[in-house]
Amino acid sequence: MKVVDEERVTVMEGEWSPLDVIREVVAGGVQEDPFYVMDLGEVVARYRRWKELMPRVEPFYAVKCNDDKLLVTTLAALGAGFDCASKAEIELVTSIGVEPQRIIFANPAKMASHIRYASAVGVDAMTFDSETELMKIKQYMPHAQLVIRIRCDAESAQCPLGIKFGCDAVTEAPRLLKLAAVLGLEVIGVSFHVGSGASETGVYARAVSLCRALFTLGRGLGHARMRLVDIGGGFPGATDSDIFEVSQVINAALEEHFPERGVRVIAEPGRYFAAAAYTLAACVHAKRDVAAKDPEGEVDTHTMYFINDGVYGSFNCVLYDHQQVAAEPLYPSSEKELPCSVWGPTCDGLDCVLPSTRLPPLRAGDWLVFRDMGAYTIPVASSFNGFPVPKVRALVDAHLWSVLKELHPLTSAQFVVGERMSLLPPSPPPAAPAPPARAVFVECALK
Ligand SMILES: Cc1ncc(COP(=O)(O)O)c(C=O)c1O
Repeated sequence: MKVVDEERVTVMEGEWSPLDVIREVVAGGVQEDPFYVMDLGEVVARYRRWKELMPRVEPFYAVKCNDDKLLVTTLAALGAGFDCASKAEIELVTSIGVEPQRIIFANPAKMASHIRYASAVGVDAMTFDSETELMKIKQYMPHAQLVIRIRCDAESAQCPLGIKFGCDAVTEAPRLLKLAAVLGLEVIGVSFHVGSGASETGVYARAVSLCRALFTLGRGLGHARMRLVDIGGGFPGATDSDIFEVSQVINAALEEHFPERGVRVIAEPGRYFAAAAYTLAACVHAKRDVAAKDPEGEVDTHTMYFINDGVYGSFNCVLYDHQQVAAEPLYPSSEKELPCSVWGPTCDGLDCVLPSTRLPPLRAGDWLVFRDMGAYTIPVASSFNGFPVPKVRALVDAHLWSVLKELHPLTSAQFVVGERMSLLPPSPPPAAPAPPARAVFVECALK
């Protein structure tokens, strides 16, 4: 876990975009390490859109996706709940003042010590999908409010999860519900996860219908207070994606199978909230022109660019999350795009960000921008070979800030107002005189 202990939010006035900010930082001439620009407004806009499209479904943000404390705090301030998968994630979320009732311990295979911790801090809701887990919960937390996780996979997904978690709704779930009843454990609901980055929307309808069948069965077995449907994650997060279509499928399925309002519906979106809010800037520090013969014997030339972040850092998402990242020059160029590859800074041959792409000719010192880099990047990144994990510069529009700063746990007492120049690193001081102030700078110490 890489929780950023103290974060600064720069409040922006007037027109701006993450790209403008990256250009401003780079123009200061002292920035050498890769860095993220995080737009808090994107998170707020996505929260609003969720609420508008699926008013019945409460989002419980999946902390594993990006545990940046500012992101978590902002979502807490907006009213989200949280899906935590470990003791440390529960610690993080409760440390900012989130009540344990707003947390679901959504890991079907938990360590005993983590169950004991959840019990001690009052996180009662947790998932299970096996007999062993039921026995463990019986031993360490017999008062837990259990949610059975079933398997229902999308036709295809960026990261399928059914291969690891979720019992079969027909052949396994009835036996587990019966066992829970015999053990005197309370099952309050059913959950599923269709796969992260799911490319099919109809799967939510299939899964909700399975949940309905298990509600009927579970209530018949004595789980009289079954009242929670947890539709998991799987929602798209990229800038050009939208949840309109999937929301229509989900709303219709809920209306058909759970028309009664006494049933609470939650979801565990991760990627949806995190991806688009973070833009990564990385610098080209070396290049090499190579020529190789293709199968027809033609000589193929291309340029290898080496940048200061790679698959051991932010671009671990290329390996683990199967993400397809796209590089964009910081400044548009009229020069012809040429075949090239983009490599990370470590000595490992595996450290390849883009094996084959096209970019206008770049020099050492030029910057590349990668959008939609907020999901499954920062918490997984390492400093292997001594290359630092990029820091996050958070930004918020002035209009939004005036609202956000009043929301707990983002209180106005945590903000300090200064000058826009603080966008630049503190030392060494920039040579150029300060540009005319067109924004107010705010420091937000999130303890
Ligand atoms: C249990 C659980 N819930 C939610 C998520 C978040 O999924 P997504 O980022 O696809 O929304 C994951 C991702 O692995 C998960 O394992």
